[in-house]
Amino acid sequence: MSIGLRSSPSRVSEVATSAHLSIRNVSKVFPGKGGLFNKLTGKTTSDFVAIEDMSLEIEPNTFVSIIGPSGCGKSTLLNIIAGLSVPTQGTLLLNDEPIRGPGADRGIVFQNYALMPWMTVEGNVRFAVETVNPKLSAGQQREIVRNALELVNLTGAARKHPHEISGGMKQRVGIARALAINPKILLMDEPFGALDTLTRGFLQDEIERIWEQDRKTVVMITHSIAEALLLSDKIVMMTRGPAASIAKVLDVPFPRPRDRETIDEHPAYHDLKTEMEHHLTLETRAVEEARIQKLSKS
Ligand SMILES: Nc1ncnc2c1ncn2[C@@H]1O[C@H](COP(=O)(O)OP(=O)(O)OP(=O)(O)O)[C@@H](O)[C@H]1O
Ligand SMILES: [Mg+2]
Repeated sequence: MSIGLRSSPSRVSEVATSAHLSIRNVSKVFPGKGGLFNKLTGKTTSDFVAIEDMSLEIEPNTFVSIIGPSGCGKSTLLNIIAGLSVPTQGTLLLNDEPIRGPGADRGIVFQNYALMPWMTVEGNVRFAVETVNPKLSAGQQREIVRNALELVNLTGAARKHPHEISGGMKQRVGIARALAINPKILLMDEPFGALDTLTRGFLQDEIERIWEQDRKTVVMITHSIAEALLLSDKIVMMTRGPAASIAKVLDVPFPRPRDRETIDEHPAYHDLKTEMEHHLTLETRAVEEARIQKLSKS
């Protein structure tokens, strides 16, 4: 992730630009529909507590994955960290500074790419760089964009438009764009969810390789146990919603660089995998039971 100008700071000082994220007693309530709507239709929906009293410390240079049953509040949490959504209660600190909205200290990779279709690959990355670094010369901005595209092996596709490239390549543009602004923390919401298995594996290896270079703080949401085990230092297992919270944080002790072919030979692999499978099965089953109960009452 050492993107930047050739004269950028040394690796050591780039590592220092990684982030400590402190999530303290965060809750998020989505308000129900009442008021005028209620008077007209006679229907109300009550407030929905998505996340309740969640606390988590994420150390600098740590790769953290968040895993939990569908709909438990993972994206809600990531959006709050990104500053795109405001917590109902609690505080979030990035390197001791309160998060009050979106900022260039956080790079985001979305599941659905979120590229601008009328811009080329290079244009998409350049747009982010220009927005965040308006005072850099055009030449300096070009160099950052070139380095970012090189890092994700997209130099040859720089002039193409999103519709001319594959899903895996689009997601690499998303990653290049997030890294090009040299964020302190990289936030990824199921970044490989829409990809086929082969491309997904290839991109996971890319992320592992890129992350090895300067170990920025990363928070990644995933539904894949294998993906979380391959990439993470810590895995945050969330409970089901409503009022989701953290069930447990697992330490992943495998040495790096990691190799997907041999990682399951580590003595801790099987137990970690089993614990995650067990947690997800129990939580998902409870969600399903609650859904069936609700249906039978209505
Ligand atoms: N804007 C909103 N208004 C009301 N409820 C919402 C809103 N956004 C999310 N929710 C609810 O909050 C809960 C958590 O949603 P969220 O998208 O964070 O889940 P998730 O864990 O990311 O799910 P998935 O794994 O399917 O992506 C869900 O029940 C969802 O319906
Ligand atoms: Mg989600």
